[in-house]
Amino acid sequence: MEENRYLTFALGKGRLAKKTLALFEKIGITCEEMKDTDTRKLIFVNEEEKMRFFLAKGPDVPTYVEYGAADIGIVGEDTILEEKRKIFEVLDLGFGKCRMCVCGPQKAVGLLQKREWMRVASKYPNIAKDYFYNKRHQTVEIIKLNGSIELAPIVGLSEVIVDIVETGSTLRENGLEVLEEVCPLSARMVVNPVSMKMENERITRLIALLKQELSKDSTV
Ligand code: PRP
Repeated sequence: MEENRYLTFALGKGRLAKKTLALFEKIGITCEEMKDTDTRKLIFVNEEEKMRFFLAKGPDVPTYVEYGAADIGIVGEDTILEEKRKIFEVLDLGFGKCRMCVCGPQKAVGLLQKREWMRVASKYPNIAKDYFYNKRHQTVEIIKLNGSIELAPIVGLSEVIVDIVETGSTLRENGLEVLEEVCPLSARMVVNPVSMKMENERITRLIALLKQELSKDSTV
């Protein structure tokens, strides 16, 4: 691969991006431009390291990486499972820890136990479908929503939801609870399969540095 090629990173916007940049700083990779919160720039360059970073909506990160528009992506495991893109998952970054759960009011427990037909609202229709059809062998109707999923059982759109639970406070404040856990989640580093071959040395070195740093401090 040509010597001056930039390694391009797609970072999921928000908390994950901030934690990723903090972790990268610890291994000596900084991107000063990105710290300016007023900027409208979309792509940031570290000339010394020949690296470029851009922020994207979480669900778009695996897309950029699959098509090779980004060599590397940092994104939640929830998004990786939902998007099912052809990408390599290479590292668990240990932060962004939460759980994918089936949640609802206590009265929905009976429907789950008896495997009765019900409606399931979620921002993650593929994860919800896989869980109910392949793991629980329960026929349900999946309703795709884009946010504030906890509203669905409250206003009668669905009996339960499949959603992320971090602190549990959104559930508590809305009279809902975790009924079943689907899987634990955390932030992951993903790599384009062609980049993994063509830029193997740089990417392998980066993974090794990150692993070393993560083993020092598991509270990043
Ligand atoms: C996520 C998730 C839950 C909430 C869980 O929503 O969908 O609603 O966070 O966090 P908690 O257990 O700490 O309360 P997000 O804030 O991303 O917004 P959204 O509802 O628009 O998806």
